[in-house]
Amino acid sequence: MSTTKSISFSYKEFDNYEELGTDDYDMVYAAREAARNAYAPYSGFRVGAAVRLESGVLIRGTNVENAAFPSGICAERSALSNSVSNHPDDKPVAIAIAAMTEEEFTDEPVPPCGNCRQVIAEEELRNGKQIRLILSGKKKVIVIDKCSNLLPLQFNKNNLISNLP
Ligand code: THU
Repeated sequence: MSTTKSISFSYKEFDNYEELGTDDYDMVYAAREAARNAYAPYSGFRVGAAVRLESGVLIRGTNVENAAFPSGICAERSALSNSVSNHPDDKPVAIAIAAMTEEEFTDEPVPPCGNCRQVIAEEELRNGKQIRLILSGKKKVIVIDKCSNLLPLQFNKNNLISNLP
């Protein structure tokens, strides 16, 4: 016998920034500031991320590209590496993402790539705390309650057959 299952989730879309809460607006601002610091000479696509920690601290990250292309890192993982390294006891609760080409921020919100989704979801799992995603574009902003919504049937430590801690 087979059963058909489905997975769906709801998210919020804002078509103007006035309706975003101040905290979320501040995060988008920080992500945009970070995007300006990106090192993206190969793609010209500058991405910024701002992670909010439980304490309220904001951690910024940018994409850092490399002539050996796979050695580059995305803004989201750059910000999360920073928070894990420097604030190990302060859990991430939200991450905002902004991206720009030349001097213009993108019209549409930029979602995290697959690798970043996997890494953000691991942080959610190990901390037992959802991480809200605030995906910003000039025309609209998307807010998603948790990253695992973007990774249905995610692979995680529970799938590893071993005696992991
Ligand atoms: N990039 C990010 O920083 N975050 C994402 O989620 C998507 C892609 C970067 C990687 C690369 O430096 C550039 O954008 C083009 O893919």
